[in-house]
Amino acid sequence: MTVAGIITRPRAMTGDRPTGPLHLGHLAGSLGSRVRLQDTCDQFVMVADLQALTDNAGNPAKVGASIPEVVADYIAVGLAPERTTIFLQSSVPELSELTMLYLNLVTVSRLERNPTIRNEIALRNFERSVPAGFLCYPVSQAADITAFDAEIVPVGDDQLPMIELAAEIVRRINHVAGDDILVEPRASLSNVPRLPGIDGKAKASKSLGNAIMINDEPDVVRRKVRMMYTDPNRLRATDPGTVEGNVVFSYLDAFDPNVDEVEDLKRRYRAGGIGDTALKARLADLLVSMLEPMQERRRSVSRDMALEILAEGTRRARAVASATLRRVRSALGVVELP
Ligand code: TRP
Repeated sequence: MTVAGIITRPRAMTGDRPTGPLHLGHLAGSLGSRVRLQDTCDQFVMVADLQALTDNAGNPAKVGASIPEVVADYIAVGLAPERTTIFLQSSVPELSELTMLYLNLVTVSRLERNPTIRNEIALRNFERSVPAGFLCYPVSQAADITAFDAEIVPVGDDQLPMIELAAEIVRRINHVAGDDILVEPRASLSNVPRLPGIDGKAKASKSLGNAIMINDEPDVVRRKVRMMYTDPNRLRATDPGTVEGNVVFSYLDAFDPNVDEVEDLKRRYRAGGIGDTALKARLADLLVSMLEPMQERRRSVSRDMALEILAEGTRRARAVASATLRRVRSALGVVELP
């Protein structure tokens, strides 16, 4: 991106709802990309507490308590506050104002067509009682993304409809403004956009209780790996096994840097040359040693320190978001008082 002749680094922006600590699905999905992106991008990472309230209005205490947990997880996996602006959504009121302005550019039927929202409405059994804020959170997410002129949004594939909507809003505003005042975002998907749960369900998720948390103690990690779904048709280690849909292999593919050894294990597994117990022991050792340094960093982040990191990042985030808001207000003809 070039602003006034100065070459700046591309902007990346993403966030997480604070509804509990983060897990390996987040790590394989967007957390891993964020750690890499902070070297090449100007990166903003948001704790999306307002978005979390769209389906947790009855449980604000859970959201509040999870905010420092999520920040601690960020530091644990290697986000560095001096290189990534880590901030709190509700403390950037410019985002709410942008949302209010964007809401006029999106129809209700467009929101109801969003496949991720439809799926989430079904999962939560909202039926006809969908909170209006929930239906509209993709618009607020468009505000989050565009406020920071983000070109790159590192997310899992379930977030693609959100980025598509944000891009539509950008095109509408730029059209009205007669100038490219907003940047059109694109998703950056990791190689492992969706990690399965230990039970073989399509997605590791805290609410389904099938995820390994970044903060899980070694014995918890080992127990969860032992519970992992492998090949249900295989009775003995010498039977030929199936690799596809085998959760242990999905995790090895996501986290074992030794790709050749994993390929060799797959070959032996298919041929009946290695049992589930040995395979799971390798995965458990790998995960425990990968998580150990993260958990050590995580222990060093007190609640106060997490809130201080957010306060500092939020100051920086507000400065950027308020400049964007001024451009949008002007493009949409909002009156400015003297
Ligand atoms: N919807 C995202 C999630 O549930 C969180 C989020 C909020 C987000 N605002 C965002 C992601 C902006 C990317 C960009 O995980």
